[in-house]
Amino acid sequence: MSRMIAIFALTTFSLLFLAGTASADATKGKEVFVKTNCNSCHGMEGKGDGPVAAALDPKPRDYTKGDFKFDANGDGKPGTDEDIALVIKNGAAAYGGSAMMMPNPTLSDADVQLLIVYIRSLKQ
Ligand code: HEC
Repeated sequence: MSRMIAIFALTTFSLLFLAGTASADATKGKEVFVKTNCNSCHGMEGKGDGPVAAALDPKPRDYTKGDFKFDANGDGKPGTDEDIALVIKNGAAAYGGSAMMMPNPTLSDADVQLLIVYIRSLKQ
């Protein structure tokens, strides 16, 4: 019995730890998002309604829908973490999309990963 309690406690603590790490990364990702001006098009809450968005066609992606278009690595599955990382780094035009989604070649891989965690955290 005490063994089961120990396993239960361990699982609970691990899950709490993982949840804590994910939300800390989402917070850091939001900082990168604002620092890199992604919000000017995608909006502070990622709804695709930033101040520049009104003038754009196609519209910036609304992250709350959790729906992504580009299959940047060509594996037949659009919107994987790798696809999103490639679009952020190389811009959407490299994959047949809008040139307004510009390349961000100076972002570090770590910052790109934080951006992805933040973007995914906005899905409703
Ligand atoms: C000047 C406006 C603008 C800025 C700034 C901008 N984006 Fe975008 N973004 C767009 C537009 C427009 C699209 C839609 C492109 C399309 O559908 O062709 C888009 C699409 C995307 C997508 C969706 C890719 C997919 O497969 O559907 C992601 C993810 C994304 N942007 C992330 C970012 C991040 C992260 C930043 C900041 C580093 C950023 N964007 C900055 C305009 C912008």
